[in-house]
Amino acid sequence: MTLERELDALARRFSPEARVTVLTGAGVSAASGVPTFRGPDGLWKDFRPEELATPEAFARDPKTVWEWYDWRRQLVAQCRPNRAHDVLALWSRRYPSFALVTQNVDGLHERAGTENVVRFHGSLWEVSCWSQCRAGSWLDMTVPFPRLPPSCPHCGGPLRPGVVWFGEAIPEEALEATGRALDCDLCLVVGTSSVVYPAAGLSAQARRRGAFTVEINPEATPASTEMDLALPGRAEDILNSLERLL
Ligand SMILES: NC(=O)c1ccc[n+]([C@@H]2O[C@H](COP(=O)([O-])OP(=O)(O)OC[C@H]3O[C@@H](n4cnc5c(N)ncnc54)[C@H](O)[C@@H]3O)[C@@H](O)[C@H]2O)c1
Ligand SMILES: [Zn+2]
Repeated sequence: MTLERELDALARRFSPEARVTVLTGAGVSAASGVPTFRGPDGLWKDFRPEELATPEAFARDPKTVWEWYDWRRQLVAQCRPNRAHDVLALWSRRYPSFALVTQNVDGLHERAGTENVVRFHGSLWEVSCWSQCRAGSWLDMTVPFPRLPPSCPHCGGPLRPGVVWFGEAIPEEALEATGRALDCDLCLVVGTSSVVYPAAGLSAQARRRGAFTVEINPEATPASTEMDLALPGRAEDILNSLERLL
């Protein structure tokens, strides 16, 4: 089938009462200028994300880890949501039980006005106390921080970024909301390399529960063959074409 026909057939599944769940990854923000991890711009000063996004790396060298996050906060602060974010924001207001589960930490879905965003891996814009004093976690939009690592206003120790690092647990609240979101009619998986677990296993769960699963990605991923439909293309193009058919 041609892409056009596949899009037509998919558009017909978007009935007004369809339960639509969308799982997104870094590819959705690529057109906004936010580098993906596994693309050609994914490296920073010769570090791989896997070397920086761990509690062990932070314990060893909090300043270097913070320099990377501070750089990403500065970069994202200058980016704007793209057409992919905008279409998903529209859907979040149109479909009654719409849910968006994102691995992205950039906050661009929220800035596009999306309702019901589940942040599976936390946020670049949240901070918390590394030594887990009573300060808890909160939003801090300071860009750039005048000193790294920034310090906890309560105990004076270092703050950490509010993201989920490799080896850390997904926040309970996000897991529960995701569990509910996987009971859906349509599950779109957009712009993720589907290699980071447990996020990579979510579409298979939705499919087992009866959802029609669709991948949107310019490249094939380990999940492509397990989808009902894999649409090769960029998120901003495919979602735009689909929205025009709805
Ligand atoms: N924007 C962000 O917040 C951001 C950026 C980089 C990494 N991350 C973190 O990286 C982890 C890795 O997973 P991931 O799978 O999200 O990212 P990834 O970097 O592993 O994969 C990105 C995927 O996006 C695809 N892609 C590239 N351009 C695209 C486009 N225009 N449209 C659609 N797809 C496109 C690529 O083919 C690739 O499969 C997550 O934990 C996430 O927290 C977040
Ligand atoms: Zn503290």
